[in-house]
Amino acid sequence: EAAKKITIENDASLPAPTKIKLRDAVKTRGTRVKIFGWVQRISRIGKRLMFVIIRDGSGFLLCVMKNKLCQTYDALTLATEAAICVFGVISQVSEGKTVPDNHEMAVDFWEVIGASPAGGAKKLLNEEAHPDVQLDNRHMMLRGENTAKIMKMRSVVTHCFREHFFSRGYFELQPPTLVQCQVEGGSTLFKVDYFGEEAYLTQSSQLYLETVMPSMGDVFCMAQSYRAEVSRTHRNLAEYSHVEAECPFINFDELMDKIEDLVCDVVDRVLKSPFGNIVYELNPDFKAPKKPFRRMEYKSAVAWLRKNKITKDNGTLCKYGEDIPETPERIMTDTFNEPILLFRLPSKVKSFYAQRCQDRRRLTESVDLLMPNVGEIVGGSMRIWQQEELEEGFKRKGINTENYYWYIDQRKYGTCPHGGYGLGLERFLCWLLNRYRIREVVPYPRFIGRCTP
Ligand code: 4AD
Repeated sequence: EAAKKITIENDASLPAPTKIKLRDAVKTRGTRVKIFGWVQRISRIGKRLMFVIIRDGSGFLLCVMKNKLCQTYDALTLATEAAICVFGVISQVSEGKTVPDNHEMAVDFWEVIGASPAGGAKKLLNEEAHPDVQLDNRHMMLRGENTAKIMKMRSVVTHCFREHFFSRGYFELQPPTLVQCQVEGGSTLFKVDYFGEEAYLTQSSQLYLETVMPSMGDVFCMAQSYRAEVSRTHRNLAEYSHVEAECPFINFDELMDKIEDLVCDVVDRVLKSPFGNIVYELNPDFKAPKKPFRRMEYKSAVAWLRKNKITKDNGTLCKYGEDIPETPERIMTDTFNEPILLFRLPSKVKSFYAQRCQDRRRLTESVDLLMPNVGEIVGGSMRIWQQEELEEGFKRKGINTENYYWYIDQRKYGTCPHGGYGLGLERFLCWLLNRYRIREVVPYPRFIGRCTP
């Protein structure tokens, strides 16, 4: 009650403050500034001193509030996650103190913009809480320091992918995500009632990228893809960000070179960016991969797995001609402990569009990029470019071609050899930032049983 009587005011005789973001705080030291942010931490020392760390997304700042400034009702009830505005002058602190940016603000006035309940968001933000409770409170977890770092790196990495493609002369396309064609098999399609018609959430934008090569040349997109994966695994999501590219008039070797170039160049750009240090903060042992990557034929991989008696989850050995499941694939990749371009996979395990090898018709000009600790991060192939062969591919997979007339038209009007790939942004982030669970690198993960918040 007594505190309610204590008031503070902005002293009009002081210089008018400049409104800044915390990223500019070092530059504006020594002048009076005004900063808006959220309360990260509070420590009260007796009745006359309070330390408050605020953040605004661009940085952190230690604010020092003395005397009346920490005795008001707002000061006594201030809780973490409240939004506040602080006025004052920032100055350097003596070396040896662990303070953000090595400086602090002597606050001369401050106010609450949006209060936070007593105790702050501790209950919701608790990193020890059960994973489902954490996911229910993902909106609050995103405010946590570690999660925020990951999300910022996601933004930086996305930017670097775009820079990579633009620097190599690609154009970007925004493809539709509501579609009527499957790309990667019917078992993972999400069906949608589209004004009474059957439609799906797209599994891949590849087919659409192929249609614009004749007008745009090399093209890429970064769009959401959807997979109705019924198992909860640490590397699969129901919705993910798919970085896809498609290039006309290339051969299979050139396709593999492009995948290698993509990964090495993007890592290089991320590390050279102003945020490159965050990679090492989150993944201290990170080593940038070097070209050329190990190129391993599918048949050698199967032979290696059999020779080393690395079995599938059911205890049996992998067989030539079948898909290599996740577990043996991961053990192999972790054993080599370097990126592997696994190529020439059997047509049986690939989609309808994969081009067959000239010398071995049962194999395809396809490639997966496998990374230690994560497994497959890229899947790509040359595409069947002759109409008859394509129609055979559809038939083999039992796909009704009615909805694919536009895709088949590509083979009628100036068809050409071409290829492309898709990279899962989240899998790339798991590898770069050394996260085991893929849901850590998505703002709001979607997987079976989870569509909220
Ligand atoms: O290997 P996929 O299924 O290939 C395609 O979709 C091709 N049409 C892409 C193309 O050539 N344009 O998927 C490509 C990549 C995988 O390597 C993986 O990184 C990621 O997409 N991915 C997933 N990421 C998270 N959750 C899932 N459920 C994923 N499924 C695939």
